[in-house]
Amino acid sequence: MSGEVINEVNNLQVTEKTKDDVDDDFVDPWNVVSKSEKGIDYDKLITKFGSSKIDKELLDRFEKVTGKRVHHFLRRGIVFSHRDLHSILTLHESGKPFYLYTGRGPSSNSMHVGHLVPFIFCKWLQDIFNVPLVIQLTDDEKFLWKDLKMEEVHKMTMENAKDIIAVGFDPEKTFMFSDLNYIGQCPEFYQNMVRIQRCVTFNQVKGIFGFDDSSVIGKVAFPAVQATPALSTSFPHIFKGKKVPCLIPCAIDQDPYFRMTRDVAPRIGFKKPALLHSTFFPALQGAQTKMSASDPNSTIYLSDTPKQVKNKINKHAFSGGQSTVEEHRQLGGNCDIDIAYQYLTFFLEDDDKLEQIRKDYTSGALLTGELKKILVDILTPIVMQHQERRAKVTDDVIKQFMTPRELAFNI
Ligand code: TYM
Repeated sequence: MSGEVINEVNNLQVTEKTKDDVDDDFVDPWNVVSKSEKGIDYDKLITKFGSSKIDKELLDRFEKVTGKRVHHFLRRGIVFSHRDLHSILTLHESGKPFYLYTGRGPSSNSMHVGHLVPFIFCKWLQDIFNVPLVIQLTDDEKFLWKDLKMEEVHKMTMENAKDIIAVGFDPEKTFMFSDLNYIGQCPEFYQNMVRIQRCVTFNQVKGIFGFDDSSVIGKVAFPAVQATPALSTSFPHIFKGKKVPCLIPCAIDQDPYFRMTRDVAPRIGFKKPALLHSTFFPALQGAQTKMSASDPNSTIYLSDTPKQVKNKINKHAFSGGQSTVEEHRQLGGNCDIDIAYQYLTFFLEDDDKLEQIRKDYTSGALLTGELKKILVDILTPIVMQHQERRAKVTDDVIKQFMTPRELAFNI
């Protein structure tokens, strides 16, 4: 039997693909699987999804328009693909407004370090562009896809909200909402959802998301829920009914939702949302899959202790090194598949240090144990500082972010 259907809960089929189920790289909102040890071929994915590669010309324009050096995620190709970013830069150049939209599907009590990637990047964008940000917590999605009770999903939503706030978003410019809570309070949001639902057929969502005749109807309708925040009128308290263009940063697994959104938006009188796509922070076991919150062995959680961080890296991080010290000194290691090195590309900001590490590991001067120690020394303080900031996020702070209200934003 194919490994495709590995779990059935209350007729909610949870499909997870393994590398044996696919002939080529496979990326959708529920599966990220590559045949290659190097991970997903992102250039091929750009062609398949029809997005655009972020090239030097775009980065130069970004720096010119913002007057800031681009983030190391952009410099290193971690944020590698886009749709319509040029239009967003043009808006900014001419002093016109836009807003950011991102989200999280709360499926575990703690987020993992990979989840930091889109949120760290969003914070950077919020800071340099000085724009509002809406963050959707798709607790309804997780209720529909996982075997969880409403109360459990609610608890995870609140716990994840703390992790997200701890990234450092400005409460004056950030609105975070739970679908299960907000949609019932906001007629404008629901009206936009229904407008979108009227534009998309079952056939289309089958094609985009792989639903079939046994998919529960909540899943079939869900893509409209994730599309709706890309329409500014879904937030009357922020945008006062005005149509403001939207930029969505996310990892590329979420693109199917927004391909659908971009198809529908102009048909109902809105601009297509722009997108910025990131690559995946790989699982500890190797770049063939992404780090996933539901698989504890593949994952460093933001709640892990320093000892857990160290043990997970030392025991599980896939090594591109040779099997003996002698061979390693002679042949050197392979950074393209080494997980400790890959993680450093996300979290070690200093380009010169990173390049020195790459050279030393490739030549064999740096051993696997030494490389892992460098990673432990970089990642542990990041996780610990996150926990310190998170501990300061009280219920009142969560309430502040999640209350529908005006934001500091001149429309
Ligand atoms: P979720 O909770 O799966 O993921 C939240 C965000 O993190 C990205 N992501 C990753 N990025 C790098 N490396 C990884 N290993 C990794 N795993 C996940 C996701 O792409 C996402 O940006 N349905 C969505 C929630 C959502 C959303 C949105 C996301 C609602 N609206 C708008 C982005 C933009 C979800 O379940 O994400």
